[in-house]
Amino acid sequence: MELDTLLMTPGPVHLDSDVLLAGARPLSHHRTNDFSPVYEDCVAKLKKIFGTSQKLYLTTSSGTGVMETAIANLFNEGETVLTVDTGIFGQRFSKIAEAFRLKVITLKCDDGKKVRVEQIAEALEKNPEISGITVTFNETSTGIRNDVKAIGEFLKDKGKIFITDGVSGIGALPFKMDEWHIDVAVSASQKGFLTPPGVGMIALSEKAWKKVETVKCHGYYFDLKLYRDNQELPIPAYPWTPAINVMFSLQVALEKLERTGMNNVYAHYEKLAGGLRAALKALNLKLFTEEEACSNVLTVFYTPEGISPKEIVAEMRSRYGILIAAGQAQYNDKVLRITTIGAIGERDLIGTIGLLEMTLVKKGCLKQAGAGVAAMMEYFLKNER
Ligand SMILES: Cc1ncc(COP(=O)(O)O)c(C=O)c1O
Repeated sequence: MELDTLLMTPGPVHLDSDVLLAGARPLSHHRTNDFSPVYEDCVAKLKKIFGTSQKLYLTTSSGTGVMETAIANLFNEGETVLTVDTGIFGQRFSKIAEAFRLKVITLKCDDGKKVRVEQIAEALEKNPEISGITVTFNETSTGIRNDVKAIGEFLKDKGKIFITDGVSGIGALPFKMDEWHIDVAVSASQKGFLTPPGVGMIALSEKAWKKVETVKCHGYYFDLKLYRDNQELPIPAYPWTPAINVMFSLQVALEKLERTGMNNVYAHYEKLAGGLRAALKALNLKLFTEEEACSNVLTVFYTPEGISPKEIVAEMRSRYGILIAAGQAQYNDKVLRITTIGAIGERDLIGTIGLLEMTLVKKGCLKQAGAGVAAMMEYFLKNER
């Protein structure tokens, strides 16, 4: 039987059909009054979810494009940035900064561990020339949720630009950019915003914007001063041709999130993640991430001895139509990653864990199926809302 694949990957995530169908509407022209309200509405709704009343721009790109936009607009060649490495998306910021010929100091954290404020303090003391710091809010390769609130509080009067990669975190976890003293926050449409890929988002504090005005942007397409000029036109616009149909979908997804209420969305993911971790515990599958840094976006865990993550992923996909993810880069051969965000619920998690158990039994890594699903159901029943 041919089945649609259920995406239990940490982005892109499984989407609702009404969001997908919204993108199939006939296009409107991006410099008209037909499109402008869609654009403005998306920006206004996103500001609420980012927790900011400051500037927010959309780009036609995935997450990496807005990470690049941040670096290209905020720093002059030769400036020094501190990049926190809790996984491969932290490392990506180092690569982008190096590509723009910045000096990069990397703070490498231990496997599975979040960054501590003291580590950042120490790096700043040793290297006072650092003018910006990048931290991944939710590190999708390792399942680590970094405490950007505490880091923002520490950095607030240090005169540095604090950049947060919220690509997989914002929209899925509570986030308060202004209250947490974050200067630049980036995200993208395909994860917490429950929309197809194609729209990037970048929000900037007043302090960050003042810096942007002193920097000659490395490049043209992502020069935020052009985005500002266009957004301030009588018919607010995007400087180039935007991803019009992705924005149609984004608007519908944001309306749905607003109707549900963001606190309910976050609580839903918390419950799914709690159920997943209860199942893994019952199956004796060890978490990769330290407990206090475990995120509700995804859970990363070691595979049982004697089987490669890729083998499990392949079997679950080809036999059962469920896609979970293996690790990335150096974690590729060690861990599996299952998401708990998207247009998904208990049915999807119970199905995924049940079928994971069946896969492990067939591969000889588990004697009997059922303990994981039983623990998960018990958790969901106890935490019924
Ligand atoms: C935390 C994080 N940052 C950055 C990215 C890069 O985003 P993209 O693949 O959309 O370019 C991802 C994508 O998985 C991510 O999870």
